[in-house]
Amino acid sequence: MRLVILGPPGAGKGTQADSIIKRYDIPHISTGDIFRENIKNETELGKECKGFMDKGLLVPDDLVVSIVQDRLSKSDCQNGFLLDGFPRTVGQAVSLDAELDKMGIKLDKVINIEADKEILVERAIGRRVCPSCGATYHIKFNRPQEEGQCDLDGSKLIQREDDVEETVATRIQVYLDQTLPLINYYGAQGLLLNIDGTQSIDAIFDQIVQELER
Ligand code: AP5
Ligand code: MG
Repeated sequence: MRLVILGPPGAGKGTQADSIIKRYDIPHISTGDIFRENIKNETELGKECKGFMDKGLLVPDDLVVSIVQDRLSKSDCQNGFLLDGFPRTVGQAVSLDAELDKMGIKLDKVINIEADKEILVERAIGRRVCPSCGATYHIKFNRPQEEGQCDLDGSKLIQREDDVEETVATRIQVYLDQTLPLINYYGAQGLLLNIDGTQSIDAIFDQIVQELER
């Protein structure tokens, strides 16, 4: 399975990605997670990205593309991968196509999770994440067993810095301006799998699996 998961901020890409990668035993490549890890470790890349991410803007294409190229060349990607949050511009999609061409492989599907702005804002603002293992929760829709504490390792949950209302609004606008054109791009290639993201987490996953295995 060579997959891309596409959708606006807070649509549920990461949540579904966690289940999809387990089912198909493929690596989860989230450019957002890679950047956050670099910020945490105070690397050069992290320093370059932070300003863009804090404002809800996209990191420049050239930085992103080389990171993904490098990641796709690793041996664990040989039997497939799930790209989450990449590509995000037509330029990134064209670069990805060129890279896959060079590798002699093609994408199988692009999963597109859709939801309205009101839902996206509520999901992003209520999201809490584990700083140690990255597990994602929601204060209303996906609560941990103990409030504020990760089920998996007991760490104190935190809020992502870009999950404040104003930045979420910017991220949604950036998605509309720069990422939405990818729906036509992948639609024209016959790869798009549109999924109604307003359903429950489990219902969305069931639908994705059903469609992928059709
Ligand atoms: P990134 O980390 O990719 O963030 P995003 O695209 O804004 O998406 P999110 O991670 O916010 O949402 P999600 O769809 O994964 O939702 P989740 O499953 O967590 O990127 C962050 C930043 O990095 C960007 O702004 C940019 O600066 C930079 N960047 C990254 N990639 C880049 C690229 N390629 N090019 C340039 N810059 C890039 O769910 C959200 C919440 O809702 C959770 O609390 C969850 O529990 C809950 N939830 C999920 N599904 C449901 C459901 N069905 N019902 C109820 N609640 C649900
Ligand atoms: Mg995510």
